[in-house]
Amino acid sequence: MKIRSVKGTRDILPDEVGAWHRIEARGRELFARYGYREIRTPVFEETELFARGIGAETDIVAKEMYTFEDRDGSSLTLRPEATAGIVRSVIEHNLMSSDPALKVYARGPMFRRERPQKGRYRQFHQVDVEAFGFTSPTIDVEVVELSLAFLDACGVESHELVLNSVGDRNCRPAYVDALRAALRDRASGLCADCQRRADTNPLRVLDCKVPGDQAVIDSLPRIVDHLCAECRDHFAEVKRQLELLGIPFRESPRLVRGLDYYVRTTFEVVSGELGAQNSILGGGRYDGLVRDLGGPDVAGIGFAVGLERLAMLLPPREEGGRCDVFLAPLTPPAGDRALLLQRKLREAGVRAMLDPEGRSFKSRMKQADKLGARFVAILGEDEMARGVWTVRDMASSTQEDVPDQGILDHLKEKTNG
Ligand code: HAM
Repeated sequence: MKIRSVKGTRDILPDEVGAWHRIEARGRELFARYGYREIRTPVFEETELFARGIGAETDIVAKEMYTFEDRDGSSLTLRPEATAGIVRSVIEHNLMSSDPALKVYARGPMFRRERPQKGRYRQFHQVDVEAFGFTSPTIDVEVVELSLAFLDACGVESHELVLNSVGDRNCRPAYVDALRAALRDRASGLCADCQRRADTNPLRVLDCKVPGDQAVIDSLPRIVDHLCAECRDHFAEVKRQLELLGIPFRESPRLVRGLDYYVRTTFEVVSGELGAQNSILGGGRYDGLVRDLGGPDVAGIGFAVGLERLAMLLPPREEGGRCDVFLAPLTPPAGDRALLLQRKLREAGVRAMLDPEGRSFKSRMKQADKLGARFVAILGEDEMARGVWTVRDMASSTQEDVPDQGILDHLKEKTNG
């Protein structure tokens, strides 16, 4: 039986990879402009990091993690997201002591055992951006603005910023109590998951997507009406500065996000073009997480973009050819000369290709065309006798003789190698 890719995983094929390279290059360039440096952390960590960091009652930790027992009995998990691992690394290497305003980004595969569908995979990729040590609303706005600038730089055209505040450790407990009380009468009309969450983690009821639950959820108390004065002021200032910068947003009191570490600002960018999985990126503030995981009491804020979803939104682009000069030797001695010329051209930075399979002239020309070759350099018996190469310009379909001793310089000049 044929072995196929695992359900929920996908290959990024050579025809698609150009879009991924562009996304990664735009990110690298843009994040550097905002003062972020790259950090790379392992794809697996101790399970406890995610249980404590993301929250044991979240769907991610309760249902979606790829957890396995290592040979020494320890419990390890493939990372479902990047933030917890980055926080672990910041603490372990004491990064805040040398850089009290630490800005980092990361990218790579994440793993969640969700039900696969369009835009939702079990191995997917994120670009993740985190800023540590900033408490001011100005950094919330900068991070939001950076996330939008990234989408713009990649060429995503239509999207919407959705914004909320989820309060903090002062005001959220009272709100959660109010939510629990409201749910006491209404939970019986909700799905089984929400009936459980109503008791264990009522905030999670707010991100339920079951259609039949929506009317009840919309009738529940709203967190924005329960914010303490500090959270209210912080949120008001975030909104004021977004308006100052002319960044449109929609407020959504139900945007609590699927991870427990958030406080105050939460945000997502959604696109109508993505279907059911409409969130391109999500993030927010997580002051307290570094301390809870054993580090200093520093603030944190960040976001992560789903690269599969981002790639789906990019307009298709014609990729350029893969070859500058295709070499077509027609006899064995010509083959040796072509081999030497191929090497010299490549050393000079020219994308040269030689078909070593000795196919017919016609099939080689077809291959040169498929590779998008700009020039084909032909060396047959007749050319060998005259001490020249026939160089064919594929765009204009014209040919010229080029003396053997000048062929390298000629092709270098023609291809700007
Ligand atoms: P998240 O909302 O769970 O946040 O994921 C961020 C983005 O990753 C989503 O908006 C989506 O584009 C993509 N994504 C998530 N799950 C899948 C999936 N199964 N298949 C394809 N794409 C997916 C976080 O992960 C937080 N760590 C973000 C953050 C960073 N908050 C603060 N700093």
